[in-house]
Amino acid sequence: PIKALLFDLDGVIVDTAIYHYQAWRRMANTLGFDITEEFNEQLKGISRTESLEIILAHGGLTISEDHKLALATQKNEWYLELISQMTPAAILPGVTDFFVAVKAAHLKTALGSVSKNARLILERIGMIDDFDSIIDGTKISRGKPDPEVFLKGAAELHVRPDECVVFEDAVAGVEAAKRGGMLAVGIGLPSVLTQADLVVPSLAQLTMEEVFTLSAVDRP
Ligand code: G6P
Ligand code: MG
Repeated sequence: PIKALLFDLDGVIVDTAIYHYQAWRRMANTLGFDITEEFNEQLKGISRTESLEIILAHGGLTISEDHKLALATQKNEWYLELISQMTPAAILPGVTDFFVAVKAAHLKTALGSVSKNARLILERIGMIDDFDSIIDGTKISRGKPDPEVFLKGAAELHVRPDECVVFEDAVAGVEAAKRGGMLAVGIGLPSVLTQADLVVPSLAQLTMEEVFTLSAVDRP
């Protein structure tokens, strides 16, 4: 049976994916190249340092470790600037109602995000107390698609991986859930999140009954 729900943050709970993209784009532009929204898909769910490596390779740049650290710090400053005005209004459609249903169903909840800014963001949107466990970028050593972030969440909640459903907007995040032996609900497009057990445009389009039905479905 399903006992716990594990949520990604950026792009699932709150609309910060766009700010990560804007900050990385600004950095790329200062280095003399551009990144597209399509390119950005592969950065979703990927840690700050790994994202930087992917972007630098895309721009064909080789730079020193010191320069990399400076760029990552600069990107984060721009990102923090972009999210500084954030309020509960940034919570994505359907999230608040969905959490009411989750609590009513007595399911446990965990946050599973690679972001080191996760707690700050949850404070800003007033959702820090909505999670029984918070696993973020400060608690893990391997980013998605490694399942570490979700396995740690399941362990803190004292549930088995097969009792968990993960909610993810990133290809790397869905892969992490599947590698961890969990069910995965994709938030976005079925054509992008091909590994997910179910894909919905947002949590506004999902009922608790559909979540429970997931575990009943026969899988190969
Ligand atoms: C999430 C986002 C990524 C971001 C990563 C690290 O996984 O989807 O776009 O790079 O967190 O975020 P941070 O806030 O630590 O730079
Ligand atoms: Mg995400």
